[in-house]
Amino acid sequence: ATDLKGRHLLKETDLTAKEFHGLIELAAELKAAKRAGSEERRLQGRNIALVFEKTSTRTRCAFEVAAADQGAFTTYLDPAGSQIGHKESVRDTARVLGRMFDAIEYRGHGQETVEELAAHAGVPVFNGLTDEWHPTQMLADVLTMTEHTSKPLERVAYAYLGDARYNMGNSYLVTGALLGMDVRIVAPEELWPSAEVVAEARRIAETSGARITLTKDVGEGVRGADFIATDVWVSMGEPKEVWDARIALLAPYAVTMDVLHATGNPAVKFLHCLPAFHDLGTSVAREIHERHGLTSLEVTDEVFESVHSVVWDEAENRMHTIKALMVATLGD
Ligand code: CP
Ligand code: NVA
Repeated sequence: ATDLKGRHLLKETDLTAKEFHGLIELAAELKAAKRAGSEERRLQGRNIALVFEKTSTRTRCAFEVAAADQGAFTTYLDPAGSQIGHKESVRDTARVLGRMFDAIEYRGHGQETVEELAAHAGVPVFNGLTDEWHPTQMLADVLTMTEHTSKPLERVAYAYLGDARYNMGNSYLVTGALLGMDVRIVAPEELWPSAEVVAEARRIAETSGARITLTKDVGEGVRGADFIATDVWVSMGEPKEVWDARIALLAPYAVTMDVLHATGNPAVKFLHCLPAFHDLGTSVAREIHERHGLTSLEVTDEVFESVHSVVWDEAENRMHTIKALMVATLGD
C-alpha cells in the first residue's frame, strides 16, 4: 500500500512517479470499495482544516465527502472567514491550526503561502490550488485518463490548450514529465509556462522518458493526442481588465470539434478541471457575449456535451483521489 505518512502535497513534484502511481491505484481501490459498499474507515478521529482564500465547488466538496466517508471531520474556513493573511500571519496561523488539526488543505494565491504553512504547521499540508500549481486536480486527471485508455500512461499523449502560464498549464506540464507521458502545451508563446517550469519539466523528462512539446500550432500540438484538456482563460483572482486581451490571444485555441478531429483519433477524450466558462449567466459572461458575440470561450458546448467529454468522471475523481491522498498521508 502507498504510505506517504506525514507528507505534504504542495506541488506534483513532491511525489515520485512511483508515489504518484501508488496514489492513483489507491484511489481506484477506494472508488471500487465505495461502489461496492465495502469501504473501510481509515481516518477515524482525524480533523482536517480546509482553508480557502478563493472560492471552490469541487475541491471543498471532495475533501468534505472524502473525509466523511473515511470517518474524519472537517472545518471549512471560507475566503472571508479567517484571520489568515489579514489579521494574522501565515506562520502564526500554521502554528495554531497545526495544534488542532491532523492536516490542513489550503487554497490561495501565491505558492509561497502554502509553503510557509507547510513549513510551520507540523502536520501535512495539501495544496488545494495556488496561482502556480493544482496538484490534487492532477491526481484526478491521471485517474480519469487511466480509466479512459487501455494504454500504459507512458504511451498516452495529451495536449493542453489555453492559458498555460498558470496553475493548470504548469501542472499538466510537470505531471506529464514526471509520469513519462507525451505532453503538449499548445498556446501562444506569451502564455507558455515560465522558463523555470519548462526547464524543470525537461530535466524530469530526461529520466522519465517523457516527450515534451511546447507549440503555438494547434494542428501540430494535438495530432495523435489521446486527451485534449483545457481550462478557463481567465483564472480566479485575475482582474476583469485582462479579459479582452486574453480572448484575442486565445480565440484560436478554443476546443472545438475541429480540434478533436485534428487529433486524427476518433476515440479522443476531452478533459476540463471545471468550472467551465461556457454556460455562465454571470455579468462577465453577458458582457463578453455583448462585446465579442461569444457564449463559450475555451470549449464549445458541442464538445463539452459530446461523447468525447469525460469531465464528470474527472470531477467525481477529485473525491476519490483526494481521499487516497488523505488515507496515504494520515490513515491507519
Ligand atoms: N477544479 C476545481 O478545482 O474546482 P473548484 O474550483 O470548484 O474546487
Ligand atoms: N485556472 C483556474 C483553475 C480553477 C480550478 C483558476 O485558477 O481559477
